[in-house]
Amino acid sequence: MVKDLRAYNIFDLRALALKRVPKGLFEFVDRGTEDEVSLRNNREVFERIRFRPRTMVDVSKRNPATTIFGVEHKMPLVIAPTGTAGLMWFEGELALARAAKAAGIPFTLATASMTAMERVADEAGGELWFQLYLWPDRRLSHQLVERAKAAGYKALVVTVDGASAGNREYNLRNGFTIPFTYSRRAILDILRHPRWLATVMMRYLLTTGMPVYRNYPAEARAKLTAGPMGRTSLRTDSLNWGDLDALRKIWPHKLIVKGMLDPEDAATAVDHGADGIDVSNHGGRNLDGIISPIEALPEIVDRVGKRATVFVDSGFRRGSDVVKAIALGANAVMVGRSTLYGVAAGGFDGAQRALEIYHEEIKRVMALLGCNMLAELGPQYLKIVDPTLEPTAPGRPGLHVVAGGKDAAEA
Ligand SMILES: Cc1cc2nc3c(=O)[nH]c(=O)nc-3n(C[C@H](O)[C@H](O)[C@H](O)COP(=O)(O)O)c2cc1C
Repeated sequence: MVKDLRAYNIFDLRALALKRVPKGLFEFVDRGTEDEVSLRNNREVFERIRFRPRTMVDVSKRNPATTIFGVEHKMPLVIAPTGTAGLMWFEGELALARAAKAAGIPFTLATASMTAMERVADEAGGELWFQLYLWPDRRLSHQLVERAKAAGYKALVVTVDGASAGNREYNLRNGFTIPFTYSRRAILDILRHPRWLATVMMRYLLTTGMPVYRNYPAEARAKLTAGPMGRTSLRTDSLNWGDLDALRKIWPHKLIVKGMLDPEDAATAVDHGADGIDVSNHGGRNLDGIISPIEALPEIVDRVGKRATVFVDSGFRRGSDVVKAIALGANAVMVGRSTLYGVAAGGFDGAQRALEIYHEEIKRVMALLGCNMLAELGPQYLKIVDPTLEPTAPGRPGLHVVAGGKDAAEA
């Protein structure tokens, strides 16, 4: 166990993060949008899926390893892209990438990160994916794609659920902006967190300067004006299928579309060349009153599971949540806040602890379920107390994690 962090689960890491970072930053990470109905449902949905374990199974050799895009990983987890992770800890993106590498899982760097993608590739390494927000000026976004290619990123994760920024009113109240401006509220908040001021903000100021979006080319940075967190990235509301075609032409590696909840959309994305679909509602941060990705997962797996790798995210906090998603047909789960709480609580050690907690919890659930490999998981291990979550076809539709290290989506 990682030393000195008294965190036995992800919620403990959240409590540590709450103490450490200014309230404005904590809320930016922790909260949802508008009335937070989606945020709550993302967690509550897991309670409507229950386990049906098998007994008398020798599980002494159980292993949560899995293969994603032909590469074996130690568990079915990916660190999701989270902009501004670098404000949770000095160079937080490097800490997250290193923790992912140590845990044997992929790390996704966000467009809106405080550390440049080339530095993350040079200094952290591991299996790196790059998340792309398309900007109104597509030429600038395509420049980012070329840089990601040159820096050796293995997958491009294009986020499609952000046609407008979510309505997060607390960000307006808290007064934090990017680029940073000296609002009275933010300054007071920071002064109440002297450890964060000394170990994060001052370290930036004494080394690389005020934290900014380091991936943005100068031309894009010049177009930014300071605004509330979450509203300042250069988004476009004109995203369309032609954009996916254009990316498919310039990106030679795996292409994942992030933020879909409709099976028809998922199928069209695969028709346009996507290798993976991330079923996500952005952690309940964009549209309130939206369905949980877990509610959409079985239908999407049924529709595209044989042609694409299916990821899911939003609301995952426990290894048992991950096992439920795999049993419903996902290939892997992306986690956002779980590792952000970790990195905010203790940098690399905290992020590593978060991943260690998931690994232990997944292994424990596998033992108690009587399951040795993720490939064995399926709806037969579940009792679903919600008809909308039932897989649409009998058996174990769309689950491609197979023994022998090759997933069906690859085959
Ligand atoms: C602070 C924060 C920043 C995020 N920034 C991005 C981003 O820049 N791009 C993106 O595609 N998703 C972003 N997300 C969404 C995550 O990738 C992911 O979908 C979400 O966090 C999953 O829900 P969870 O936090 O409950 O695990 C962000 C999430 C958080 C919490």
